[in-house]
Amino acid sequence: MRNIMKILMVCLGNICRSPLAEGLLKHKFRNNKLDVQVDSCGFEYDHLGCQPDYRAIEIAAMNDIDITDKKARLFTPANFDIYDKILVMDNNNLRMVASKARTKDDLKKVDLIMNVVEPGSNKQVPDPYYGRRDHFVETFEMLDVATDKIVQLVKSKQWSANQDNN
Ligand code: 4NP
Repeated sequence: MRNIMKILMVCLGNICRSPLAEGLLKHKFRNNKLDVQVDSCGFEYDHLGCQPDYRAIEIAAMNDIDITDKKARLFTPANFDIYDKILVMDNNNLRMVASKARTKDDLKKVDLIMNVVEPGSNKQVPDPYYGRRDHFVETFEMLDVATDKIVQLVKSKQWSANQDNN
């Protein structure tokens, strides 16, 4: 069986940032005819099973991306066995994912998503949940840049399944 690359996006609620990152990346992989599995999850129980926030749905739709099928779910340690890359939005997400890591190899899969654009910059994608609509625009724009770079890394085979992608 062919081994396809798998990427997981993680934020706190799994209703704003990570569903946008998932939607953007799926859209771009589809457009580039690249077979990569993408999913997203979070750590917060309040919105489990819910659709993304209406403002995330709206900014995605304005860019021809439909994220209405997404349902919020929790991160579990089993995700370390499934995914090649686990990309988080901020330092809080990073701490939470790292606290579930069982091995050094688990930890090696995890990074802040903006580090794909500027390695080592440790830039965070701010949580837009309590913000205004323009915060969602800013979130979308940051994730648009990051997902462009991810597509480039996969296309050039710098990222692939089951290998040391660092
Ligand atoms: P997200 O935003 O982590 O980008 O999905 C949040 C959504 C909801 C909450 C926190 C962050 N919340 O605490 O309800």
